[in-house]
Amino acid sequence: MPSESRAHGGGSSPRKPRLTVLSGPSGVGKSTVVAELRRSHPEVWLSVSVTTRKPRPGERHGVEYYFVDDAEFDRMIASGELLEWAEFAGHRYGTPRTPVLQRLAAGVPALLEIDLQGARQVRAAMPDALLVFLAPPSWEELERRLRGRGTEPADVIERRLQAGRIEMAAEKEFDVTLVNTDVKDVCRRLIALMTNSPS
Ligand SMILES: Nc1ncnc2c1ncn2[C@@H]1O[C@H](COP(=O)(O)OP(=O)(O)O)[C@@H](O)[C@H]1O
Ligand SMILES: [Mg+2]
Repeated sequence: MPSESRAHGGGSSPRKPRLTVLSGPSGVGKSTVVAELRRSHPEVWLSVSVTTRKPRPGERHGVEYYFVDDAEFDRMIASGELLEWAEFAGHRYGTPRTPVLQRLAAGVPALLEIDLQGARQVRAAMPDALLVFLAPPSWEELERRLRGRGTEPADVIERRLQAGRIEMAAEKEFDVTLVNTDVKDVCRRLIALMTNSPS
């Protein structure tokens, strides 16, 4: 089944590079899409988030995330260094502001992968941003992916599933939906959206 995109009639299509935000429910495949983008489109600049959660196997400091403790995260909030931040499943995640603004000022398209609370903060702070909702082919498939990832204990998975039901309802706040059926297809469509070229 091919992936599908649904435009919501929201965002404008300026020619200048703008911030693109990839969000969606936990387990839908955001990190998988971003990992594929790193491989297939190394020229795309991806924001590296700060998090207080512990690294999963294979995650490297400064590549997938900056791993910091609670005190350092508190300091970054207090000094206004974060464009957005959110708490999720007991951990905090945030986007360092300066690197994003620098890329946009230099005319380089920038991509953020963040949760829904963060996406709402970016919408408020940068109304020009293009918000992309990554949706699962079905709720059953989302549940299967979340359980199948095997990186979290059962109680965390249950919390993420509960949150997922609410997260799915946020789709209408986004400019466009990409259904994550095929990862490479999602990447292709995402690049087309970021560069304003037809997909
Ligand atoms: N298009 C896809 N088809 C099948 N499985 C996928 C697809 N995209 C991601 N997955 C799987 O779903 C699980 C959750 O993906 P992940 O990228 O960790 O989600 P997120 O970052 O959105 O929480 C992983 O086990 C991943 O391999
Ligand atoms: Mg992820």
